[in-house]
Amino acid sequence: MEIMNFAIDGYKDVEAREYLGIFGNPIKHTLSPIIHNTISRRLCKDMRYIPFQITENLGDAVDMAYKDGVVGLNITVPYKQEVMEHLVDIDEAAKVIGAVNTLVHSNGGYKGYNTDMYGLAKSLMVEGVKLDGAKVIMLGAGGAARAVAYMCLKYGADRVYIVNRTFDKAKKIADDMNSAFSCDKIIPLDVKDYYVIPDGRYVMIQCTSIGLHEGDGLPLISDESFFEKAEIGVDLIYNPAKTAFLKLVEECGGKAINGLGMLLYQGVRAYELWNDVEVPEDIVKNVYNALCRVSYDNTDNVVLIGYMGCGKSTVGSFLSMVYGYDFIDTDKIIEKREGMSTSDIFSKKGEDYFRQLETELLKELKGKLKNTVIATGGGMPVKEENRPLLKELGKVFYLKASLDTTYQRVSGGTGRPLLDNLEGNTLYKKIKEMTAIRTPIYTEVADVIIDTNEISEYDVHKIIAANMSTYAEDI
Ligand code: ATR
Repeated sequence: MEIMNFAIDGYKDVEAREYLGIFGNPIKHTLSPIIHNTISRRLCKDMRYIPFQITENLGDAVDMAYKDGVVGLNITVPYKQEVMEHLVDIDEAAKVIGAVNTLVHSNGGYKGYNTDMYGLAKSLMVEGVKLDGAKVIMLGAGGAARAVAYMCLKYGADRVYIVNRTFDKAKKIADDMNSAFSCDKIIPLDVKDYYVIPDGRYVMIQCTSIGLHEGDGLPLISDESFFEKAEIGVDLIYNPAKTAFLKLVEECGGKAINGLGMLLYQGVRAYELWNDVEVPEDIVKNVYNALCRVSYDNTDNVVLIGYMGCGKSTVGSFLSMVYGYDFIDTDKIIEKREGMSTSDIFSKKGEDYFRQLETELLKELKGKLKNTVIATGGGMPVKEENRPLLKELGKVFYLKASLDTTYQRVSGGTGRPLLDNLEGNTLYKKIKEMTAIRTPIYTEVADVIIDTNEISEYDVHKIIAANMSTYAEDI
């Protein structure tokens, strides 16, 4: 598949019967693979979702994906408008909103949809928020706000004020939507005129980018009493989980809803369009848990320990691809920093020097990682000082392999400093000696021991996932 040339690192070699994907730039931090790969896995579909980094020639990339048979695509920043030029058909709502985030493979090309709007509506519905007859205040009038304004009218809002720094942008949305729905329910306002909004209880939807960054204050209006109008406060931002806006809404007695539900349901809807299925509620719940874990859980790290050759790297990359963990390898970090291989560090600077680097690295990583798999050097737990540090970093999994399995895996050129230049019987004896010392240590440090002798690395990663908090019910 030619389009695989644009897959981001970690996804280039993914093999499946069918493919889904996302186009965007930047795209590395997208959470969408977690949504779609979790659903596919739960539905036992051999279908994988790949992030494609498209930096130019969007039209060519769309054609390429179509020719390669990619079943469906999501489109994100900065292409949601531009992609509309490269489709055979566009759904009516997406046309009015003026943005497409989902492409469905159809006759002669892709058809475009906007599931963002549906995603927000569904997430509000699930939270018990009624738009029918509601009075709404929208803050912001960018791309996302157009979909929100459309949603308000489609689901029967009675009146919608759009407050924006740039009045013309609010007016354009109001004009377009009022005309599409033949009404005059949307009223654009320059932010300095916010006080004309009558008292009352509103659904207040925050559509600006203010709140995304640490230290961001309230959006557009600094007068805190204004936010008392929010019976319901909705922020399209989901990270941080509670923006200053949502915190204030809660303090004023309102209900706060962040954008994670919108992200979830826009994805679920896209998956349903691509596959012509209905995703069952229990799977939606799994996906939501997975998104929460990846977005908010700071401690859910996986630490892999075990003798060399036990599969730490392969298992780590499975966890990263299938479950969206970040993946680091302590040996690789040290090699990069020192500018030489582990074997060279051992021979030129000695084992003690290397062990000290390991300890320093563990101390440095403490508290800094979230949702990360950490593959460690085989000797890491041998130094006593490192043991509590490893446990503080996350849940420790010992990938156990028998002496014979280890011998088979490492013979034939090891690249591992303590075994370099050994072969045959001498190698076997050395491994025996080292495992005799290390096995009880690994056992002591481990929270979970996995016997890897009879099972594949793919199965090992599934066992680990089943042991992690929100994935337990997912396997
Ligand atoms: P998106 O596609 O996420 O909606 P966007 O189209 O860039 O992003 O829209 C960003 C929104 O946040 C706009 O309403 C923008 O206001 P302007 O229309 O006046 O540009 C608003 N916004 C972003 N930064 C802002 C700031 N510092 N102060 C006020 N409004 C801001």
